[in-house]
Amino acid sequence: MSWLRRGITAVKKNDPAVHSTLEVLLTYPGLHALFWHRLSHFLYKHRLHLLAKIHAQFWRFLTGIEIHPGATIAPGVFIDHGMGLVIGQTAEIEEDVVLFHGVTLGGTGKDTGKRHPTVKKGALISAHAQILGPVTIGERAKIGAGSVVLTDIPEDATAVGTPAKVVRIKGKKMEGKNDSNI
Ligand SMILES: CC(C)(COP(=O)(O)OP(=O)(O)OC[C@H]1O[C@@H](n2cnc3c(N)ncnc32)[C@H](O)[C@@H]1OP(=O)(O)O)[C@@H](O)C(=O)NCCC(=O)NCCS
Repeated sequence: MSWLRRGITAVKKNDPAVHSTLEVLLTYPGLHALFWHRLSHFLYKHRLHLLAKIHAQFWRFLTGIEIHPGATIAPGVFIDHGMGLVIGQTAEIEEDVVLFHGVTLGGTGKDTGKRHPTVKKGALISAHAQILGPVTIGERAKIGAGSVVLTDIPEDATAVGTPAKVVRIKGKKMEGKNDSNI
């Protein structure tokens, strides 16, 4: 399936408010930001760093979504609303991830090299969640709105709060076990 088809399918799957493909193509800033990130990333990979940054900044101005050209993003990712979302240079986002507005995939300022999060396949990062440092959000994990995640989150977990703690695994409550994220 082509990149664009996967992007449209992801929007339709995750947003019950959609009426048509044309609406998706014309009015979803997340789709626009992700589509044009592919060009920024291409320029960045070919060491045209300044051009890549200028291109990314142009799309940030139009969409409110800031994606560093170095970030690695798979097809089929869905960004809902998007305004205020920031994705750092060494972030990696796998297929079928859902990100809402105000999310930060950022650094703590303490790491070098790989400084930003990795978000595994099918994870959901709710509005205004802040994921900081080179942590991994496991496959299908859910991060609650407004949470601050500073440690790895296992697959199929729900993590909420500041700092985020795991409260569910596969929907099952973690009775008395939420002092740790494992
Ligand atoms: C985390 C979330 C995805 C739900 O995941 P879930 O696996 O279905 O988890 P539950 O709803 O069963 O909640 C699990 C627990 O976390 C709590 N919780 C859920 N979201 C929370 C949040 N953002 N902050 C703090 N606690 C939260 C629930 O009250 C529940 O507590 P309990 O164990 O005392 O009963 C969801 O609550 C959420 O944050 N959605 C926001 C999505 C979003 O960004 N929407 C914006 C649309 S514009």
